[in-house]
Amino acid sequence: MKQLLCLLLTAAVAFTCNAIQPSERKIIRITTDNTELAFEVGPDRRLYQTYFGPRLLSEEDLKNLSWNRPAGAGSTGALEVYSTSGNEDYFEPALGVTHGNGNMTTYLYYEGSSVENIDGGTHTRINMRDDRCPLSVTLNYVVYPKENVIKTWTEISHREKKPVSLFRYASAMLYLNASEYWLTEFSGDWAKEVRMSQEQLRFGKKILDTKLGSRAAMHVSPFFEIGLDGPVREHSGEVLMGTIGWTGNFRFTFEIDNVGNLRVLPGINPYASTYELKAGETFTTPEFIFTLSSEGASQGSRNLQAWARNHSLKDGLGKRMTLLNNWENTGFSFNQESLTGLMKEAKDLGVDMFLLDDGWFGNKYPRSNDRAGLGDWEATRDKLPGGIPALVSAAGEAGVKFGIWIEPEMVNPKSELYEKHPDWVIEQPDRKTYYYRNQLVLDMSNPKVQDHVFSVVDNILRENPGVAYFKWDCNSPITNIYSPYCGERQGQFYIDHVRGIYKVLDRIKEKYPEVPMMLCSGGGARCDYEALKYFTEFWCSDNTDPVERAYIQWGFSQFFPAKAMAAHVTGWNRSTSVKFRTDMASMCKLGFDIGLKELSADELEYCREAVKNWKRLEGAIMDGTQYRLVSPYETNHMAVEYVNTARNSGVVFAYDLSPRFQGKLPVLRLQGLDPAKKYLVREINLMPGRKSSFIQNEKILSGDYLMKVGLDMFSHRHNNSMVVELTAQ
Ligand code: GLA
Repeated sequence: MKQLLCLLLTAAVAFTCNAIQPSERKIIRITTDNTELAFEVGPDRRLYQTYFGPRLLSEEDLKNLSWNRPAGAGSTGALEVYSTSGNEDYFEPALGVTHGNGNMTTYLYYEGSSVENIDGGTHTRINMRDDRCPLSVTLNYVVYPKENVIKTWTEISHREKKPVSLFRYASAMLYLNASEYWLTEFSGDWAKEVRMSQEQLRFGKKILDTKLGSRAAMHVSPFFEIGLDGPVREHSGEVLMGTIGWTGNFRFTFEIDNVGNLRVLPGINPYASTYELKAGETFTTPEFIFTLSSEGASQGSRNLQAWARNHSLKDGLGKRMTLLNNWENTGFSFNQESLTGLMKEAKDLGVDMFLLDDGWFGNKYPRSNDRAGLGDWEATRDKLPGGIPALVSAAGEAGVKFGIWIEPEMVNPKSELYEKHPDWVIEQPDRKTYYYRNQLVLDMSNPKVQDHVFSVVDNILRENPGVAYFKWDCNSPITNIYSPYCGERQGQFYIDHVRGIYKVLDRIKEKYPEVPMMLCSGGGARCDYEALKYFTEFWCSDNTDPVERAYIQWGFSQFFPAKAMAAHVTGWNRSTSVKFRTDMASMCKLGFDIGLKELSADELEYCREAVKNWKRLEGAIMDGTQYRLVSPYETNHMAVEYVNTARNSGVVFAYDLSPRFQGKLPVLRLQGLDPAKKYLVREINLMPGRKSSFIQNEKILSGDYLMKVGLDMFSHRHNNSMVVELTAQ
């Protein structure tokens, strides 16, 4: 009876599934300047991937691609673009649905497609539908030809009588056909983010996923690289680089099948998240963003960095503010007077803004440590009698902007918010509560909680329009996993929680489009391109030891432009020089979080000079092209170069980490310069009174020479750095 109902409903939407004639071949091309992803509708009207690789030059050649590849015994060899559960594809499906009638099988047939021009590229929509149940899927591909980046996501909806349950809902599915596949993952923990490791994939599955809910990327970051035919290399070889825009549980599945094809399935992690979809509702998956480079990871990174600035990152083409933060310096111990002093120091240092960190709020339960106050966003009267208005005006008098830290999705049980709204918290009603950093996560699936979180920012900005910046933190994963709001629909919770965050961020962006915000999550545990539509930058790690930062910044730079990566000079690893620490932070968005009074007069003078230099070179570092030249993973050194778009200004950062005694120093050949131009090569960021020992200092060298012969910037000293500016003559 149920099946009959399903059939009748299908008939009602007048769907017919006709075999198409060979003369009517339907080929769909998803192409950037360098990459081609090709699909073809098979004679059975199902959609197959026929090619993914470097762009094919001739349209004619696409007709020679076969939707049904020669494959091993027992396999159809057909690679369906968005495979579904319950059919003859025996591997991990992209879509898994339990229909209203309990049937767990879905077949998708091609219905039609369209292409629309959008800013910077094109948007292809491919509509598919089941032939037995009224379930529709739209595959979306937005292509950015110039940057060679594709982003893809899927929309799922239905008109079945009863809700359907989604138990798999990948954003997309990609097949690769190479002789070897090498996966680079980025894993770690607090203060050891994005440690890169590589392994060869073999038959079966490798899964990278997170179940942390919020602070979701604490153990693994939402991106990966796949080296094709060999391990990923910086400057050569084919590599697929992909990342998912989802600020919650994600999952990447890499599966090698019986004939040695690799399928890549990026998506929300379906763990504890069987999603009930009502008729007429649309389930939209997160965006999966990818690039295919034939010139190694370095070029893939440049593709993504340019795409992010041009098309995705909040205020991607705008300026960034240098700053002085107080967290590493004062912790929770400060008052109006000491902060006013720091604002003056910020001005003297030459940075644009003073950023007040944690510890400024809470009255019934003052936030004098991390055990109380979270949730009560009113300035602590004892510490800050004039509240935020007095801080904003003190900053104005000092001549710097004022920014402030918030962690609005969280609550300490010792807070007025928790006392008033215990049901706003993700917490088991009848089990012992587990606390992470003494706090709990608010239930963002609840619209009332969304209003509250919006009001944290809204109240501050309404009362203090002078607040110029937010650092938005998220220190706890979700524990005690139960949403009072979702009630019996707990399968929705992890997903609706993240969607709740986006709803709030949408409101903030709409009302305060100009206010920059830093995304922070106990360091770099939130770093995805969906969140970065709302945030101008993210905090890479609480670990600001410059040696560790070399690896962390190298890792994040694989997917993000320097503009999105905040780096501060702090007191971590005081055994290294202030110059080394500053030179390391200068390759990203520069800030300071150090007691300037603890610096010697020379060190302070050095920092002032370094800020000036950074600002002069902002066009190259923030908006130019980045070339990762020498890897800390492969050598005991690191070098990164930035060149502005006109190729008349650049900067090279070279670091000696722990060189061996008289070890061979890496050759440092530059990239991306104009070979015909002559560049003045000059060492900058020198300690006051120190003469440069750089043998090519003040020379005028051609771009050709610099790219073929190179510079001698490395030494055998430990924790040593050199910064060289290039100015076209
Ligand atoms: C997190 C952040 C730090 C700092 C503290 C404040 O750990 O990563 O930068 O803001 O919270 O509690």
